[in-house]
Amino acid sequence: MEKPISVKLCNNQQLWLVVLISFVSCLVLVCFDYSALTSTETDVTTSLFGPAIGTQTKPRSCFGRYIYVHDLPSRFNQEFLDNCESITRGTNSNMCPYLVNSGFGSKIGDSQGFLLNNSWYSTNQFLLEVIFHNRMKRYECLTNDSSFASAVYVPFYAGLDISHYLWNVSISVRDSSAKELVKWLIDKPEWRRMWGRDHFLVAGRISWDFRRQTDDESDWGSKLRFLPESKNMSMLSIESSSWDNDYAIPYPTCFHPKTDSEIEAWQEKMRTQKRPYLFTFAGAPRPDLDNSVRGKIIEECKASKKLCKLLDCNYGVTDCDNPVNLMKLFQSSVFCLQPTGDSYTRRSIFDSILAGCIPVFFHPGTAYAQYKWNLPKNYSDYSVYIPVRDVKDWKAGINETLLHIWEDRERVLGMREQVINLIPRVVYADPISRLERFEDAFDVAVGGILDRIESVRRTIREGKDPSVGFADGDDYKYTFSGYVGET
Ligand SMILES: *[C@@H]1O[C@H](CO)[C@@H](O)[C@H](O)[C@H]1NC(C)=O
Ligand SMILES: *[C@@H]1O[C@H](CO)[C@@H](O)[C@H](O)[C@H]1NC(C)=O
Ligand SMILES: *[C@@H]1O[C@H](CO)[C@@H](O)[C@H](O)[C@H]1NC(C)=O
Ligand SMILES: *[C@@H]1O[C@H](CO)[C@@H](O)[C@H](O)[C@H]1NC(C)=O
Ligand SMILES: *[C@@H]1O[C@H](CO)[C@@H](O)[C@H](O)[C@H]1NC(C)=O
Ligand SMILES: *[C@@H]1O[C@H](CO)[C@@H](O)[C@H](O)[C@H]1NC(C)=O
Repeated sequence: MEKPISVKLCNNQQLWLVVLISFVSCLVLVCFDYSALTSTETDVTTSLFGPAIGTQTKPRSCFGRYIYVHDLPSRFNQEFLDNCESITRGTNSNMCPYLVNSGFGSKIGDSQGFLLNNSWYSTNQFLLEVIFHNRMKRYECLTNDSSFASAVYVPFYAGLDISHYLWNVSISVRDSSAKELVKWLIDKPEWRRMWGRDHFLVAGRISWDFRRQTDDESDWGSKLRFLPESKNMSMLSIESSSWDNDYAIPYPTCFHPKTDSEIEAWQEKMRTQKRPYLFTFAGAPRPDLDNSVRGKIIEECKASKKLCKLLDCNYGVTDCDNPVNLMKLFQSSVFCLQPTGDSYTRRSIFDSILAGCIPVFFHPGTAYAQYKWNLPKNYSDYSVYIPVRDVKDWKAGINETLLHIWEDRERVLGMREQVINLIPRVVYADPISRLERFEDAFDVAVGGILDRIESVRRTIREGKDPSVGFADGDDYKYTFSGYVGET
């Protein structure tokens, strides 16, 4: 489950590659008329597919939505930013540039028009905790009086903290901040109100990084989430573990819109893209992971010739973290393949949603078991599921499966419309201004955790034990049972 801080970024260096890719794709387009795959029809109504997602009106009243933010000593958050060079220990890239603009990184201009000017940034995928905190500082229902608060936010930068120590052998060094943090928290009057069950943390790395189960030095990560106090709290992060008090919310992408109309302009752009490829994969093989489907996917993509476009993310081949490269590719494809990577999830899921490219999942842990607040319950509405339980049983035929789905043009366009409607729910809007109508990923996450805490409060009011089902391990969470493929 190791996911080192390999810095996956949206830097903007290899523009010449884009030019090369454009050239290659132009050749493809000139030689083959794939007009069957090129569709700009947008007349399929979403009503066929249930109520449109992402168009709900935002709650106006703060009743039941007040949040108290703990004023933690700066060693738990700000100091990591002040000493940003040290976060990068063990990698050869510098994290400091990615901390500017509320944690969004620097702005990206794009003369080719694949992005919208002024709302794309070189955002590091591991900076959710900084982005979330900055957004929370402008949350409309903050309170300084914790007795009014429905939830208590603990702005500890757990991911930046552990990235200092990921390669440090000493267990006591790795766990030291976590232990200091809970010691600080339980001394506060807010703790005793619900024994921490109304507290939540937000981390920019996968939850497994905080779930070290033994004190064996070769074991990965910290023990933060197994400390008794921490078990009483909830944590939101880019990938949840199999324990019930961990919740997944979207990875930060590079798109941080300021206004509703910017989102609508982007959605409209995605509705009218020409999509010459049936499917696409951006990624690298994982030859050292025995059960990885990536090798098979790459083989099939190559064998499918003009139907599939591959963006090889092997070191040095293409800059897959440059959103210009990724958006250009994903905007030109109907389906985007999303196999597991080093862990179950990948930021690419959200890049494909941004591009209006229907994601194809191979494992329920990649999205369905994760982003329950942000993505629709009925996964057939917005995605294709081709379960691969064991790569040894791999049956070739992604191309035929997708061609078959593509025959039902109305269904595919309905799915695409659902994907496009999801865009506001998976972006972290710029806190400089406020979205009026759309709920973004932050709003959805805050709504989700407030509901969760409210149900715990209800349990306590009813005199029941709130620990039942709160932090249990769920062995089935990432198994295939319960997610039946429909294709
Ligand atoms: C976006 O910015 C680039 C420079 O970064 C400029 O060349 C281009 O014309 C701009 N596009 C629009 C639509 O304003
Ligand atoms: C909380 O208190 C601080 C310092 O007294 C003040 O600056 C801030 O505006 C207050 N915030 C709210 C939401 O009342
Ligand atoms: C581990 O952390 C300690 C305390 O910060 C530090 O002195 C030591 O050099 C670190 N070791 C490694 C291998 O990073
Ligand atoms: C966790 O919550 C339970 C009540 O649900 C409480 O009895 C226990 O003391 C709490 N643990 C800590 C470390 O505060
Ligand atoms: C689909 O992929 C297989 C390899 O998995 C290949 O043999 C076949 O030609 C492809 N079909 C099409 C229509 O591209
Ligand atoms: C889920 O959506 C698909 C197509 O979008 C539909 O056929 C199916 O009936 C839905 N399932 C449920 C349980 O609503």
